[in-house]
Amino acid sequence: MSFDLNRILRNNIKALKPYSSARSEFSGMAKVFLDANENAFGSPLTRWYNRYPDPLQWELKKKISTIKNVAPENILLGNGSDECIDLLIRAFCDPQRDNIVICPPTYGMYEVYANINDVQVKEVPLHSNFQLDLEGLENAIDENTKLVFFCSPNNPTGNSMDHEDIEMVLNNFDGIVVIDEAYINYSRSRSFVAELKNYPNLVVMQTFSKAWGLAALRLGMNFASTEIIGVLNKIKPPYNINQATQELALKALDHLEDVNTMIKDTVRERETLVKNLVQLSLVQKVYPSDANFVLAKMEGATSIYNYLKEKGIIVRNRSNVMLCEDCLRITVGTPGENEQLIDALKNYS
Ligand SMILES: Cc1ncc(COP(=O)(O)O)c(C=O)c1O
Repeated sequence: MSFDLNRILRNNIKALKPYSSARSEFSGMAKVFLDANENAFGSPLTRWYNRYPDPLQWELKKKISTIKNVAPENILLGNGSDECIDLLIRAFCDPQRDNIVICPPTYGMYEVYANINDVQVKEVPLHSNFQLDLEGLENAIDENTKLVFFCSPNNPTGNSMDHEDIEMVLNNFDGIVVIDEAYINYSRSRSFVAELKNYPNLVVMQTFSKAWGLAALRLGMNFASTEIIGVLNKIKPPYNINQATQELALKALDHLEDVNTMIKDTVRERETLVKNLVQLSLVQKVYPSDANFVLAKMEGATSIYNYLKEKGIIVRNRSNVMLCEDCLRITVGTPGENEQLIDALKNYS
């Protein structure tokens, strides 16, 4: 199996002449900037926000690079990982011809972006143990399959996929394998970021929205070969990461220790939450989780969901999702929040 980026790239993207922004044509020091139709008189906030931000976010990427041990040229930043998903589909999938493969139950946005882009979605459901169905994948993948999305740890099931299974697909599929590691910081599994050198067809997706606690800033990351990153840079909106986000993320990256403490606190609270949930008679099963949420099976999950909602406690009802019948997905909260949840469930009749 040999991966050929040119073979899977859409012809219109191959031929595309990207927009050349003022800030990409000139990025050095100068006395007077009269090239980008900015407001030369300033802004009502601080004086820097009148200027367009760095389109390729080099300073931020360099700092991420030291933490992730990936060269800045192998990083694409997106307006949340949701933008990264959309860019991948738009770069590689011809509408009405190509398809992507997903493994439900999984994160909903792969399908939504495929639908928006008029790209077919092939579903290969997970086995009942929430692991990949390799035979099903082999049967589903055809010559028009450009992307396969794996989510590990998976939302909403919480488990990590077997590394060997993912490697099997990476070795045998000549399209791109996207591994969404939004929840990797809560997991004992190794990240696939370390495997980038071994697989030219690998894209690893991570986000600042979970362990980093910065969902409001909208910052997602794709790690991949320079060739794949080059394609995504070509089609992304020129200034997709705003200046405030770039500045705040740079500051946040100085606080890795605090983030690690939050991760430890979350994992500890997850274990306490699981321990308390399984003691409740209405809880039939709590699935093992490598993420900052747990999937819990309860008889009459929808009634319990509505009861909790009335008490002002909002969880995610996944009852209608394949393989998640009668399941609620519960995000790990603070000790006080988790206690309120458990108390409310104890009083449910
Ligand atoms: C698996 C997974 N990927 C990606 C995202 C979205 O991340 P972002 O906030 O970076 O767009 C989520 C959000 O819940 C998620 O569960």
